[in-house]
Amino acid sequence: MRRKLAAGNWKMNGLTASLSELTALASAHPDPAADLLICPPATLIAAAAQVCAGSPLAIGGQDCHAERSGAHTGDISAEMLADSGASAVILGHSERREDHEESSEDVRAKARAAHAAGLTAVICMGESLAQREAANTLNVIGGQLSLSVPDKSTAENLVIAYEPIWAIGTGKVPTTAQIGEVHDFIRTHLESRFGSDVGRGVRLLYGGSVKPDNAAEIFSVPNVDGALVGGASLKATDFSPIIKALEESA
Ligand code: 13P
Repeated sequence: MRRKLAAGNWKMNGLTASLSELTALASAHPDPAADLLICPPATLIAAAAQVCAGSPLAIGGQDCHAERSGAHTGDISAEMLADSGASAVILGHSERREDHEESSEDVRAKARAAHAAGLTAVICMGESLAQREAANTLNVIGGQLSLSVPDKSTAENLVIAYEPIWAIGTGKVPTTAQIGEVHDFIRTHLESRFGSDVGRGVRLLYGGSVKPDNAAEIFSVPNVDGALVGGASLKATDFSPIIKALEESA
């Protein structure tokens, strides 16, 4: 059985005062029936890890460099994230693929670095509206899966997040049938590439406008093992009902 995972991506949001949201979340969920992960901006990782020490809340980064160290001004290595207290890192988010022109090959190199540092790689993928309208969604996802996911992935060090670009921050959500089609496709791909043990063990998250009022419906879809939540992860009062919906779906 895959343990469910509720993950929050704070993106470029959050100052020191936001750490109180983590304290509130940890005290609202002392013994959750799902794994909980919050990925704050890099500036807050060490403090967040300290605040969450001894609680079920794990902390992750939002990106890492593919190299272990070196002359890369402004970048952060996977080892640095781990050293700061992170146990996971989001990679290949569409905002990074767009803003920083990250290719799937770049994402795979970063995921290898994350694995070498002992981090779980939460690899994101998703189609644009134009790609969906051209009935190209599964081709796009298939290509992103083949190229972004490293060969040595395991059920423990890999999580896939399906995030249709047109659903991120827009309030638009695919139908449950659309989500199910893509998640089933990802599951089948992983099983044929990695074998059934690994393929069935990797958690598949849905991301894109997950809110307290649509979470239960999304979590009812087979092969949806949790969510990667943006806006609604910033406040404990929004994220908490999403966690509860996930626990109830388990
Ligand atoms: P929203 O939940 O704000 O749509 O963001 C989703 C996302 O991009 C999570 O990585």
